[in-house]
Amino acid sequence: MTNDAHDASSNTPQASCKIGAGPHAAAGPAGKHPAPPCTLVIFGAGGDLTKRLLTPSLYNLTVDGLLDDGMQIIGVNHGERETKAWVDDLGQSLQQFAADKKSKVDDKAWQWLSSRMEYMAGEFEADDVFEALKQRIDKTSHGNAIFYLAVGARFFRPIVERLGKAGLLKEDKEREGNFRRLVIEKPFGTDLASARDLPAHILQFADESQVYRIDHFLGKDTVQSILAVRFANAMFEPIWRREYIDSVQITASETLGVEGRGKFYEQTGAFRDMVPNHLFQLLAMVALEPPNSFDAEAVRDKKAELFAAIEPLKRDDVVFGQYEKGGAGVGYREEPDVARDSITETYAAARVFIDNWRWAGVPFYLRTGKRMTTRRTEIAVQLKRVPFLMFRDTPVEALTPNVFTLRIDPAHGTRFDFNVKVPGPTMQIGAVRSAFNYNDFFEEHANVGYETLLYDCMLGDETLFQRADSIESGWCAVEGVLHPEGGPLPVHGYAAGSSGPAEADALLARDGHAWRSLQDAE
Ligand code: BG6
Repeated sequence: MTNDAHDASSNTPQASCKIGAGPHAAAGPAGKHPAPPCTLVIFGAGGDLTKRLLTPSLYNLTVDGLLDDGMQIIGVNHGERETKAWVDDLGQSLQQFAADKKSKVDDKAWQWLSSRMEYMAGEFEADDVFEALKQRIDKTSHGNAIFYLAVGARFFRPIVERLGKAGLLKEDKEREGNFRRLVIEKPFGTDLASARDLPAHILQFADESQVYRIDHFLGKDTVQSILAVRFANAMFEPIWRREYIDSVQITASETLGVEGRGKFYEQTGAFRDMVPNHLFQLLAMVALEPPNSFDAEAVRDKKAELFAAIEPLKRDDVVFGQYEKGGAGVGYREEPDVARDSITETYAAARVFIDNWRWAGVPFYLRTGKRMTTRRTEIAVQLKRVPFLMFRDTPVEALTPNVFTLRIDPAHGTRFDFNVKVPGPTMQIGAVRSAFNYNDFFEEHANVGYETLLYDCMLGDETLFQRADSIESGWCAVEGVLHPEGGPLPVHGYAAGSSGPAEADALLARDGHAWRSLQDAE
């Protein structure tokens, strides 16, 4: 996890500072240097993740000179295919998915990367694949390997088991810095019981320190920056507590529907898909206690404390919705692979409390939904009102509350709403807004969101990866919603293209709050 610091006053880039540096990270001039050599094995080489995110990220890391000459990538997938055909296919979609849309794919960089890529046909559950991988990796001078499971969750166990039995997860302690790492993506279980089960299975074959659990929200610069905003400025921490903060709203609304993922979504729903993982990660970044350093364990310990302090959600704290035919298109039940009488939620709102000294009594309102009016991921921190107002004719209640908004997607920046005097002879108060956009200060950097995660994994820096205990605490907090007493939660309709169901408004109204508009200008 790196942070290039700039002197905003002069707008001049300054020396960068490395935070959360891993074992190999001796800071270079820009705090960056190639990761150690390794063999990256991607299970699921023919899948979407490889095409849309992993290959473009590896390409961007190549352009930045962050991969070692000894890097090798082996893509494993079922189905015979020539390496050339696989690489050509990935190369063709690179322009579309590599984030820097402005410039053309650099042929030299792609040539460098693609010459290190090799396709291996094989079933994920067949022993011969693992034998072949072992031979390949043993032959390298470094012996380092990362096994990336870009596959459906049903393959996690068989692959890990075979990797373990083939001795592929065994690190060679005689060789300095030798590593074998395992990368997995959510879902890390589907409820508390399964979330406990999966790590137990993995830990039979690998040590916890070898397991890198990705939550792609943590790969977003704007999410990583939350810690920088909080802890690299003196102005926020003193007020970042229950005495000054009234409530926090965390929103991840999408305009997309289920996009052909009906089968997956029917089993998962918006709540499992987004809340105990992505939204809880945002919650942790905004609410965790200051760590002593940006060392991986220091940050992850604070996160674990925070997750453990989340008050278990009750059915009354949650509202589910499902999109119906509306301005933005068909209803969820009309989507392919979705039951015509489905009760799967495509929207979830929750009221969360954190039981600790800093946050007791402060509601954190979370919402996420498909086919909503706007795509917006943001965290809005609303401050308490001033205690009284000296301008006699203006009641305190009439003031617009101060809100500090961390804007994650698609806008990248922060925004502050506050009050000033309206120019003119009388003392009238008017609400204004001051906004900062990353693009105004920093050069846009090609980034699809996985670059830092892959680079950190190669460095052995686990700051941005999730630990099993935090995942378990997250599921623990939502267990009462997943298996609610009194039967499944009702699912309320909302029109495709709207701001969600009316019942979600009522969830906040009972505390005297209201959701922030999703329709106001970005
Ligand atoms: C994924 C979910 O983890 O995150 C998707 O499975 C969701 O349903 C996506 O659309 C949202 O991520 P982002 O980065 O597009 O906000």
